[in-house]
Amino acid sequence: MDKIVSLCKRRGFIFQSSAIYGKLNACYDYGPLGVEMKRNIKEIWWRSMVQERSNIVGLDAAILMHPKVWEASGHVTGFTDPLVDCRQCKMRFREDEIEEKFLEKRQCPRCGTVGSLTEARQFNLMFKTNMGPVEEKSSTVYLRPETAQGIYVNYKNVIDSSRLKIPFGIAQIGKAFRNEITPGNFIFRTREFEQAEMQFFVRPGDDEKFFEEWKEVRMNWYSRIGINKEKLRFHEHASDELAHYAKAAFDIEYKYPIGWKELEGIHNRTDFDLSRHQEHSGKDLTYFDDAARERFLPYIIETSSGMDRILLTCLVDGYEEEKLEKETRTVLRLDPKVAPVKAAVFPLVKRDGMPEYAKKLEKDLRKSFMVFYDESGAVGRRYRRQDEAGTPFCITVDSQTLEDDTVTIRERDSMKQIRIPSNGVRDELRKKMWE
Ligand code: GAP
Repeated sequence: MDKIVSLCKRRGFIFQSSAIYGKLNACYDYGPLGVEMKRNIKEIWWRSMVQERSNIVGLDAAILMHPKVWEASGHVTGFTDPLVDCRQCKMRFREDEIEEKFLEKRQCPRCGTVGSLTEARQFNLMFKTNMGPVEEKSSTVYLRPETAQGIYVNYKNVIDSSRLKIPFGIAQIGKAFRNEITPGNFIFRTREFEQAEMQFFVRPGDDEKFFEEWKEVRMNWYSRIGINKEKLRFHEHASDELAHYAKAAFDIEYKYPIGWKELEGIHNRTDFDLSRHQEHSGKDLTYFDDAARERFLPYIIETSSGMDRILLTCLVDGYEEEKLEKETRTVLRLDPKVAPVKAAVFPLVKRDGMPEYAKKLEKDLRKSFMVFYDESGAVGRRYRRQDEAGTPFCITVDSQTLEDDTVTIRERDSMKQIRIPSNGVRDELRKKMWE
């Protein structure tokens, strides 16, 4: 993980937030390469979850919502972690993360003092803020800890405006905030992160069938972004692990350098959320099924992923220090669709009209992809810089280009080169990217 963190800073993927002021813990900023990569992941998610499906539509709800939303959803009372302090070293822990052997003796896992752990207090993970100029209890609002609730409170608006029929889904990508007690492992667990969630509304009784379907669909999606299947598995939540809203839950887990951890959650939320909002708002949230002449509260199957965590997974999965004959190259084997820059364009040398030719090609390719122009240093070193940034293709303009308008395309993973007409580069890249 340290190598990934260092690569991310060095190459402009991810920076620690507010570093010049000594950093803000568990908050990160995306640099020029990181922001492109995250945009690509969001785009692929949206394309497969919304664009390619006629029964799923998108939404972009506000981060700040009426405080009653969080009372109804159960987050005000239920979205808590058990927090214990060490009286000796003042360190704070989540009680459910402390090993049994320490808990038995109320021993601090950090400083080892026996009997130093306090009793657990329930700590609410929601960030509070105030709306308007007066700081009083009635003006308290929360930064949303999940995007899902924005979908539930809009579900009637969406049905009325789009005439969708059950089963259908509403998808959303947006920021979420949690005052995590134990953030860490770089962007794995942060206090501000981005979720991509889809809530699928189904007839009660059909929920288990759709739950199984969505588990499968979401697991397969990770192949679409090039994640190694061998490093993915399901983890079923035992009854004591289930969130307050879920009847059943499976995590898709990835084998990170820190062990098997949750990448995405798929939850059967039943009619828990809609019935709570119906009760607390006093508004009828039932769905009327025209064909069956029946009225009911739909059940909801949720797929919930973290964009930052997916990005971290792509970095971890793609990172390799490959031993070559004379050197070791660091290469990020990112799926070309995910890679921040699709191609780098090089003039072999900085003379004889090669830079002008290469710049023209770069300008032309920019209309279709993120590309990068580089003319500094030996071409071998330029390849290495792009390997480390995950750029899948490097296009070189050489003396032959000036004679016959052909260029070489070098592939990052195989390091093989092909020569093709320069006016065919765009189509060739497109083909390679989507094949
Ligand atoms: N709406 C359901 C929900 O929020 P969750 O399992 O708490 O479920 C879903 O979160 C996903 O959001 C996780 O699988 C993870 O990818 C991401 N996530 C949750 N907390 C996170 C955090 N503190 N930092 C980064 N990503 C997080």
